[in-house]
Amino acid sequence: MHEYRIAVIGGDGIGPEVISEGIRVIDEVTHLLGSFSVEWTHLPWGCDYYLETGKMMPDNGLEVLRNFDAIYFGAVGAPTVPDNVSVWELILPIRHRFEQYVNYRPAKRLRGVPIPLRTNEDIDFVVVRENTEGEYANVGGLLHQSHPGELAIQTSVFTRSGVERVTRYALDLARSRRGHLTVATKSNAMNYSMPFWDRVVRDVAGEYPDVEVDLYHVDALTTYLVNRPHTLDVVLASNLFGDILTDLSAVLVGGLGIAPSANINPQRKYPSMFEPVHGSAPDIAGKGIANPIAAIWSGALMLEFLGEQEAADCIMAAVEQTLERGEASTPDFGGKSSTKDVGDAVHKYIKLSESYRISVYNSGPHLAGRETGNGKQRTSNIPE
Ligand code: NAI
Ligand code: MG
Repeated sequence: MHEYRIAVIGGDGIGPEVISEGIRVIDEVTHLLGSFSVEWTHLPWGCDYYLETGKMMPDNGLEVLRNFDAIYFGAVGAPTVPDNVSVWELILPIRHRFEQYVNYRPAKRLRGVPIPLRTNEDIDFVVVRENTEGEYANVGGLLHQSHPGELAIQTSVFTRSGVERVTRYALDLARSRRGHLTVATKSNAMNYSMPFWDRVVRDVAGEYPDVEVDLYHVDALTTYLVNRPHTLDVVLASNLFGDILTDLSAVLVGGLGIAPSANINPQRKYPSMFEPVHGSAPDIAGKGIANPIAAIWSGALMLEFLGEQEAADCIMAAVEQTLERGEASTPDFGGKSSTKDVGDAVHKYIKLSESYRISVYNSGPHLAGRETGNGKQRTSNIPE
């Protein structure tokens, strides 16, 4: 029986609250299927750790993480620590050092979830956000600080290899789905980086004549997300554009409370990291009312990436049962349930019936490479 070793960084605010529900749900499905096991290692890193030690994680933190099969992450950020410190000293080093250059963010309408748009169409697209360079490359500086003439420079960095590899991932993903890639650009105003981005994207797209590719300026694309989201299949965006587009795509299908994400190293040279899109939500932290669905869904993405498709489907089917029957919903969905109530409901549906494993969620394996984490072969076209 395969045992996965998972590092857990609950982090700050609602992070630990939602991640503990995800762990409970994964433990339940592991128990039900009996075909693999998970060993969780909890790492107390985050803002409290920073206030005690002056660091968000220990100096050898990345070496510690290196040996795990995956990282299950809650959120970082607290009012007592500047956001640029908490983000730049924990989450971004992990994404960069482990070459998690794909930030995979599905936007899928689930039955039973209220959405702000008046449409009966299905919404099912994935945003592939470049995750290691671009506008978040950490290049820049401050000059003449605290003087009237002070200035700040923040430079974007786009490398050919960086753009090529994420484009290839997005095209492979589109090929395994409905064959359509929409690319966010801004080549009219950002007149060096974005024309370069467009050119590299088009070069790689030339190798995929079977995938239909459209490029749109990101501002126009925001309107398409609202006006015709059902026409989108895979959306490729740079780091900043993808960050912004995915808060919008999250709200289109029900809000940050249910939006999952995966930070993937497709080569599997390093562990990948799975986390809800949302942050630490200090406004509701400690109240026990955060929606744990985003964290649970991120856990399902983790199992899918590790090759445990059946377990992932089982969890998503239980999530859908919970949402559709509306018997447990947190205040962000207009309900009065607690984080634990929602976890309990998902737990119950996993327990109730194995028939839920055949899920409407299961639109095919999209996330993992051909060779899965447990050595099983699969038929997906996604690159290794
Ligand atoms: P946020 O995502 O934490 O919260 C935005 C709004 O959404 C808040 O009103 C919050 O209550 C609500 N919300 C978020 N998750 C929810 C959930 N699961 N259930 C119900 N409601 C939920 O973003 P914000 O306020 O911009 O940032 C708060 C802190 O989180 C900051 O320190 C920020 O730097 C950090 N952050 C960390 C991220 C990460 O760890 N990946 C991502 C985004 C923000
Ligand atoms: Mg964001």
